[in-house]
Amino acid sequence: MLNLVVLSGAGISAESGLKTFRDAGGLWEGHDVMQVASPEGWAANPQLVLEFYNQRRRAALEAMPNLGHTVLAQLEEDFEVTVITQNVDELHERAGSSKVVHLHGKLSEARSSVDESLIYPLEGKDIQWGDLCDKGSQLRPNIVWFGEMVPMIEVAARITEKADIFIVVGTSMAVYPAASLIDFVRHDVPVYVVDPSTPMIRHNPNITFIRDKATTGLKTVAKELREKFH
Ligand code: OAD
Repeated sequence: MLNLVVLSGAGISAESGLKTFRDAGGLWEGHDVMQVASPEGWAANPQLVLEFYNQRRRAALEAMPNLGHTVLAQLEEDFEVTVITQNVDELHERAGSSKVVHLHGKLSEARSSVDESLIYPLEGKDIQWGDLCDKGSQLRPNIVWFGEMVPMIEVAARITEKADIFIVVGTSMAVYPAASLIDFVRHDVPVYVVDPSTPMIRHNPNITFIRDKATTGLKTVAKELREKFH
């Protein structure tokens, strides 16, 4: 089976009711992104950061996967699919995708603020100020913040190099190193970009832009892939 690799971003969850980042004019649910998604923000006001992610976690749990997530999960019948996502929700998994790499962490996990290898499943619970890891330090969301290393990027780059088909969906391609994954795609590989606006991707003859929402756009791509490659 051909390797189909998908790079997804906030736009794929938009039709599930979860807001994207950059569509909101630089504010994320009313907050400056650096206030709630950076080590500096955490140092300045950890309670605000915890509450912000507790709200995001509740919203993600209440949201349902949409047809875009489902179409990608169903492509596993015909392709070897790996989804590399920048999203911290788990709507891909809930739609049935079996191989999902989370570049920016997961809302469903907490981690130690002194030892990033200490990770704890939250099972839907909030993180409270005063909740401690086994080393006695405050728990924080297991989310990669601006200015932090992206531990999964190497794994994602190796997966991307093996892609026979590459899909980019619902990401502005504005955040690095995630956006640099496109440079690891072999130059003969067909690339489909599904997004109602135009993400920051250099044009090349192998790229097909589908200026549509994830739900309908991915349906179009799936049909074409089955016709062309199966
Ligand atoms: P952005 O908010 O930067 O981009 C969302 C993209 O989704 C835009 O290109 C929109 O045009 C597109 N979009 C909107 N509605 C859509 C729909 N219904 N179907 C398809 N596409 C749609 O989000 P990301 O690129 O994911 O990082 O942002 C990357 C990272 O920046 C995030 O992972 C997050 C953020 O700060 C962290 O939290 C570390």
